[in-house]
Amino acid sequence: MGLFINSQRIRFRPGLWADIPAMFSLDARLFPPHSSYDLEVFHSLMLEEAVSFIVAHAADELAGYMILRIGPEREASALTIDVDPAYQNHGIGARLMALSERLARLKKMKAMVLQVSSQNHRAMRFYEKLGYTRVRFLRGYYGGEEDGWEMKKDLVSYTQPRILEKESTAALP
Ligand SMILES: CC(C)(COP(=O)(O)OP(=O)(O)OC[C@H]1O[C@@H](n2cnc3c(N)ncnc32)[C@H](O)[C@@H]1OP(=O)(O)O)[C@@H](O)C(=O)NCCC(=O)NCCS
Repeated sequence: MGLFINSQRIRFRPGLWADIPAMFSLDARLFPPHSSYDLEVFHSLMLEEAVSFIVAHAADELAGYMILRIGPEREASALTIDVDPAYQNHGIGARLMALSERLARLKKMKAMVLQVSSQNHRAMRFYEKLGYTRVRFLRGYYGGEEDGWEMKKDLVSYTQPRILEKESTAALP
């Protein structure tokens, strides 16, 4: 079954160059300047072969997106995930993570790693619910202004909840 929010269907698809302005402005709304991405960062990530963007779309607007990098070695990185506050708490974030993990598994990755601010308790709880654990404390990681945590999930042994696994498969190329 698809995901509907306020009777709008949420569609998941690969991110495109045309999505950059909306992704950039959502990131700037959600994060302070020392931890949000510059426009140039979006451009250079779009050009990287190992990087994938996954977008969640509601009618004609961006509801959320995530960026992941495959490798090096057998680890994928979740570089960022943003869900528009108007669409949060409806399962979009969990589905974006599930899609990324599925893509990483297809590319033979054994784990997914990510960095999160130690002050972002909501995001840490969100990741912990999805099976991520804290593996390393990163002092001053965000421009020397905020500490961070590296979190990690073993993609080989972790079993995805069935509902997410089913929808993830449907949305992949
Ligand atoms: C962290 C973030 C990506 C989560 O996205 P989200 O779409 O709100 O996530 P989900 O809806 O999948 O899950 C969030 C909560 O909604 C609940 N939820 C999931 N599906 C739901 C549904 N259908 N109806 C109601 N609640 C639901 C989850 O149980 C979860 O509960 P919790 O807050 O107790 O953990 C989002 O809050 C965000 O963009 N935050 C700002 C940017 C940020 O911090 N990014 C992380 C950087 S490291």
